[in-house]
Amino acid sequence: MVAFTARAHTNIALLKYWGKVDQQLIIPTTTSISLTLDEFYTETTVEFDPALPNDQITLDQQPLKEKDRHKISIFLNLIRTQAQINTFARVQSVNHVPTAAGLASSASAFAALAGAGSAAAGLNLSQADLSRLARQGSGSASRSIFGGFVQWDRGTDHQTSVAHPLQENVDWPIQLLTVIVSDQPKKINSRGGMQNAMQNSPFYQNWVERSNGLVKPMQTAINQHDLATLGTIAEQNALEMHAQNMVANPPFFYLTDISWQIINLVQDLRQSGLQVYATMDAGPNVKIISHPDDTPTIKSALFKILPEISIQVATPGPGLTVWQN
Ligand code: DP6
Repeated sequence: MVAFTARAHTNIALLKYWGKVDQQLIIPTTTSISLTLDEFYTETTVEFDPALPNDQITLDQQPLKEKDRHKISIFLNLIRTQAQINTFARVQSVNHVPTAAGLASSASAFAALAGAGSAAAGLNLSQADLSRLARQGSGSASRSIFGGFVQWDRGTDHQTSVAHPLQENVDWPIQLLTVIVSDQPKKINSRGGMQNAMQNSPFYQNWVERSNGLVKPMQTAINQHDLATLGTIAEQNALEMHAQNMVANPPFFYLTDISWQIINLVQDLRQSGLQVYATMDAGPNVKIISHPDDTPTIKSALFKILPEISIQVATPGPGLTVWQN
């Protein structure tokens, strides 16, 4: 059969997804909003081949570990069922997301796999159906089907829990600086972390209500190209997500001393008049939402307190592209 390749970019959540009402289908507790990033992406080639005795999967030219291979095969089963085929696949994936950056590579990975896998199986899915498919691999992947600002409606079932673009072409200045605090694998992955927070934080329902209440104000900020409001809401939402983890019983922490030093610096820079805002995911790295003109000032302030730190710049990026090899 014919091989197809897809390229999907990763995304940063401005309103976070942090909990599932359905573990299998991955239906979230909140609607989330993200920005797709240009610089970080995954490219995946899929070919279904009747001669294969099982799925053969490589990531960056290396065979995957058994646990990850199983996860991909289960995802491929969704495609096989839909396409009514039972052939195994050859999957070659190359990650252009710096592993150290702590940006969810599962988002770009499952979005690219959904795109290449469905095309290689002969399915001709709409973008919404690709989003629904990618969601079942990793929730954040549902958003990486689209470029620019994207909203994933929490919905109530497979049909209604789907992402759609809010603003595909971002023609106003906004960027994300990722400050790399640690390149060690996370202590608790996002899947386990969100489950913990949901079950063990006494304020979890409050987080859900507050987060869903921020959707409209975030949409307005995006429509009005209002970096200050967008950043303020994103920072607040990220801190509230981390607060759930900190008050869970038992508590758990993604942010380290260095993360807090950076968050404090962001607040100091804001006091001095800069539009800079922090957001953090399931790891210690801090991502700074800012205006591209302010990069030199932010970088030099960071290097003053943390001379060894490394910083990656990212700008708004496009949605999924798929082509035949
Ligand atoms: C903190 O999408 O990686 O980055 O659906 O269990 O695979 P699974 O989780 P994942 O979680 C992302 C969590 C987050 C926030 C976000 O991207 O919305």
